[in-house]
Amino acid sequence: MQTLNVVVASRSRAAVDSLAACLAKHDEYKVKVRVIANGHEDPLFGVRELPDLLLLHYSTGSSELNYLAENGLREKLALIVCGPLDDPDAMRLAMRAGARDYLPDNTSESDLIASVARVHEDMQRARTSAAAKLIVVVNGKGGSGASFLATNFAHSLVVDGGARVTLIDLDLQFGGLFRYLDLKPKVGILQALESAHELDEVSAQAFTCEHSSGLRLLAAPSKFLTMADSVSIDKLEAVMDSYLSLNDYVVADSPARLDAVTELCFSRADFIMLITQQSLPHIQDSARQIQLLTSEVGISKQRISVVVNRWSANAEIQADDIKKALRVDELFTVPNSYKIATESINAGIPVAEISRTAPLTKGIRKLQAIVDDPDNKPDPGFLQRLMPNFLGG
Ligand SMILES: Nc1ncnc2c1ncn2[C@@H]1O[C@H](COP(=O)(O)OP(=O)(O)O)[C@@H](O)[C@H]1O
Ligand SMILES: [Mg+2]
Repeated sequence: MQTLNVVVASRSRAAVDSLAACLAKHDEYKVKVRVIANGHEDPLFGVRELPDLLLLHYSTGSSELNYLAENGLREKLALIVCGPLDDPDAMRLAMRAGARDYLPDNTSESDLIASVARVHEDMQRARTSAAAKLIVVVNGKGGSGASFLATNFAHSLVVDGGARVTLIDLDLQFGGLFRYLDLKPKVGILQALESAHELDEVSAQAFTCEHSSGLRLLAAPSKFLTMADSVSIDKLEAVMDSYLSLNDYVVADSPARLDAVTELCFSRADFIMLITQQSLPHIQDSARQIQLLTSEVGISKQRISVVVNRWSANAEIQADDIKKALRVDELFTVPNSYKIATESINAGIPVAEISRTAPLTKGIRKLQAIVDDPDNKPDPGFLQRLMPNFLGG
């Protein structure tokens, strides 16, 4: 369980001590107290690390609630006020400040804990739903460009989206993603698997190598022959959990074959990008891959996005043919750009660092639509508030 950091603030030392004592009985709350001195209106004045919750004990006539109502709560800070029940002004100010609850200043311990527990639950829920997304990239046929696109897509999430991203090379035998980024890993996924159950933030990061863009790679150096079937699934789960907890996105480049390793990753994936090309053999193999993923691994088709790489508007097979053959409603395309792709691969430089505006770079950037979460789009009410003129409100 994640701890809830609480600051208990009041002008009265006795009040902070008694509220803090109730919370301190619960291990999941980490409590700091603050006695507000004369002259300070901001109850968090001088607090360096913003807590998750401010529990403010308020007495009529002091100015903290007014300050919070006027200045607004800082992002992600929850507020609970304990104050007099016969003070409607205080309640109104608490409401304006965005308080989650208004408790009587002589609140019972159980009411206080129930109120704090609600904030804690909401915070945990928000953290899990904001957890990292796993994107598994796989080809329908060898050579379609899965490894190339996985690397450049992960790079784009970092440089265009400002996200924390780890790219994982799941090809335990022939993995070569490090070459696409000109990195020289000494350790990688095999060492991470050996320490799977002891991984913490520091050791997990130490098994990756960092590209100058900030993208991290958990590589699969090919010095050792590793059979996917000898990998413990328990350990692989722990490794995945660990990198998911450290990132906004984990992008895994997967071999096409189904084995214990790839099956686990496919089944845990939030999004699967199936990379194919505009030729009959590519389409036939991709149809077979989709069928395996849906019927053997039990993945819902909505989680699979088809990306047609090396797209050309003049090819004989066009989008509608591919949609029909693969039974999908939507296709993503990445243009054929032999020159810049070759230059990128030979030099180990992501395409966006060769050109920000090349059609290939733009095509890769557009793949972000696959992972855009519709729930994260601001609602119109929010926009209306921010830009009333723009929206004519
Ligand atoms: N959009 C593209 N335009 C031109 N060449 C590409 C493109 N995408 C990939 N390639 C070329 O295809 C080759 C195979 O790509 P790779 O990522 O190794 O495929 P896969 O992982 O699917 O086997 C790469 O060497 C790269 O030069
Ligand atoms: Mg590959």
